[in-house]
Amino acid sequence: MNKSFPLLGFKELLMGFVSGRCVVIGEEVGLTSLTPPYLAPTTTGDVILKGVNYASSASGILNDTERFFGHQIHLDTQISNFVKTRQDIISRIGSQAAKEQFKQAIFFVSIGSNDIIFSQWQNSSSWNTLLDTIISRYKSQLVRLYNLDARKFIVTNSAAVGCIPFVRDLHSSVDSCVAVVNQKAQLFNSRLDSLLAELTKNLEASTFICANVYAMLDDILNNYMTSYDFEVADSACCHIAGAGLHGGLIPCGILSQVCPDRSKYVFWDPFHLTETSYEIIAKHMMDGDLNYISPMNIRQLLN
Ligand SMILES: *[C@@H]1O[C@H](CO)[C@@H](O)[C@H](O)[C@H]1NC(C)=O
Ligand SMILES: *[C@@H]1O[C@H](CO)[C@@H](O)[C@H](O)[C@H]1NC(C)=O
Repeated sequence: MNKSFPLLGFKELLMGFVSGRCVVIGEEVGLTSLTPPYLAPTTTGDVILKGVNYASSASGILNDTERFFGHQIHLDTQISNFVKTRQDIISRIGSQAAKEQFKQAIFFVSIGSNDIIFSQWQNSSSWNTLLDTIISRYKSQLVRLYNLDARKFIVTNSAAVGCIPFVRDLHSSVDSCVAVVNQKAQLFNSRLDSLLAELTKNLEASTFICANVYAMLDDILNNYMTSYDFEVADSACCHIAGAGLHGGLIPCGILSQVCPDRSKYVFWDPFHLTETSYEIIAKHMMDGDLNYISPMNIRQLLN
């Protein structure tokens, strides 16, 4: 899918910090235009008062998380870019009004899965050591946003990335998800739960909402035919014939073929879901119960 990252503009400002995964929540809340990307030349003037998208494909919490797909803007730099937007907003509307805006704004942060997917190439003695580094970086990044007046955060955990076509093919897994990679995601997620609880407690007037995309994707994969209208849950719709059992080894590009009906596929390409899957996830984020999003869903946050 080509949609980048539409989100809650609303009256509220929306700041998105994402690793390139698409989310269609904006459509859920009736937004007609996408939150504009930070680097677009048109993202200037009053446009920035309605929210900015800092997302960068394949980016990570750590600066050196990914080395295969060219240039990324990792989270530290995404936040530095927000510092510039913030200064622009202060110049336009004054610091008092700006501060109020930031406190009402929703900061959507969805990152970490690339740090897990590409961790096997990191120079670290063990996953636990690397995970300590990832979580401590993430903590200081979220605190940095808080110190820049962010108060309302929606943070996603890591999906079951052992199930994506890239990881399946990398591990030559014929018909199951790669358990060792899903275990890494689960460890990250449990550390993230503790981190968000700690931040909520220690940062005055903050709200950290955790969106459990691990559970959301797990449900889709387990029930793709019975609860949903999917036919294929293990292979990429956009693929190069012969490049991996699940079309997972080569990113979707000009030489790729696209499946006849993408709405029947859970996965769009080696790394990403189809729009149909993202719509299911967006609905869970909007209206889901505590199993999917806690301590409240986005609709409750907005009301
Ligand atoms: C990551 O890179 C950015 C941009 O070069 C830099 O400002 C930041 O300090 C780096 N983070 C770490 C932990 O080295
Ligand atoms: C990993 O880092 C250590 C310490 O910086 C260094 O001695 C070692 O050569 C590195 N290993 C690889 C494979 O880069």
